[in-house]
Amino acid sequence: MIRPLPSGCCGVRILGTGSAVPDNRLTNADFERMLDTSDEWIRQRTGISERRVLDLRTEGCSTLAQRALERAIEASGVKATDLDMVIVATVTMEMTCPSTACRIAGAVGATNAAAFDLGAACSGFVYALNMAESMVRAGRATTVAVIGSEAMSSIIDYTDRTVSILFGDAAGCAIIQATDDASKGCIYQHMGADGSGWHALYIPRRESDVPPGEEGNPIRLGNLRMNGKEVFRFAVTKFKEVMEDAFTKTGLTPDDVSQVICHQSNVRIIDAAREKLGIDPSKIYVNIDRYGNSSAGSVPLCLDELWRAGKITPGKPFMMVAFGGGLTWASSVWQT
Ligand code: ACO
Repeated sequence: MIRPLPSGCCGVRILGTGSAVPDNRLTNADFERMLDTSDEWIRQRTGISERRVLDLRTEGCSTLAQRALERAIEASGVKATDLDMVIVATVTMEMTCPSTACRIAGAVGATNAAAFDLGAACSGFVYALNMAESMVRAGRATTVAVIGSEAMSSIIDYTDRTVSILFGDAAGCAIIQATDDASKGCIYQHMGADGSGWHALYIPRRESDVPPGEEGNPIRLGNLRMNGKEVFRFAVTKFKEVMEDAFTKTGLTPDDVSQVICHQSNVRIIDAAREKLGIDPSKIYVNIDRYGNSSAGSVPLCLDELWRAGKITPGKPFMMVAFGGGLTWASSVWQT
């Protein structure tokens, strides 16, 4: 059961959202020219037709994060100075110091905001949103910008066909704020991790980071290595478990929610979970065909597209679910 909130807790509402993707498209046809692969293989195995990629000479994770933040500020009607916290979920920051959050808070003039990055790979945005919502509920913050932004193209070895075809660059942002209506906000959240499975998805910086048995993996240091089959198995099981848990603990059924926003990892992973739980396809948004897997950017990009299209029905709950490197997973159910 959901534990009742302590008396005096405020509610939390999503004021507005924003997102950003690069203009450059990398299509399956481009991959056919670069690698031994085919449009048919990629679409059948992943559901992806194209993804967006940054021009890494001049752009990066912070470029997209800033654009998404600016769009969310505009949509929310707040001033940058109203923000008291900026969190960027990412694993592809240009620099670990300063954080991406500090740079973009500075760039938009969020002079009253604390700012930091959070790393939970593809679960990062849902982790960050859950943390931010809890801070606002508890009265420790009033207005928070939560961003998921990834320059996946900066950690992809484009000579490797097993990984490169999956990923794209994107960012999304939600600005949340305290409200007197305590019924609004996150009504259930769950976050988990299993570090014993870290080697299924990792970015080694040094030879010594490479786990035993993986020494022969030809993917370059600094690039993402993935055991596709292991991640697939984990994801299918975990997606179902996490959604089932969220429905059970909230007492909601799939009919009660306006949307379930899933991390866009592979359309087969999403479909498998949806079919097992008997969720109507219209309730599960899919944009992986256009953007690929953008890690922490994927859930907030979906959220922004749905929010702007009016598909997150006011007064109805919606759910976000993600899994990723770590291994990590997270859910967040919101009453709007
Ligand atoms: N084009 C053509 N053939 C390919 C390609 C490609 N791009 N990639 C692999 N193949 C070949 C393999 O070499 C293999 O050939 P073989 O049978 O001769 O050995 C064959 O296709 C089948 O390969 P599998 O790995 O079995 O293919 P699978 O159906 O498992 O699909 C995939 C691979 C798409 C990577 C899948 O395992 C997957 O989606 N896994 C989950 C990935 C994921 O979600 N990662 C991110 C999660 S967390 C995060 O978002 C950071």
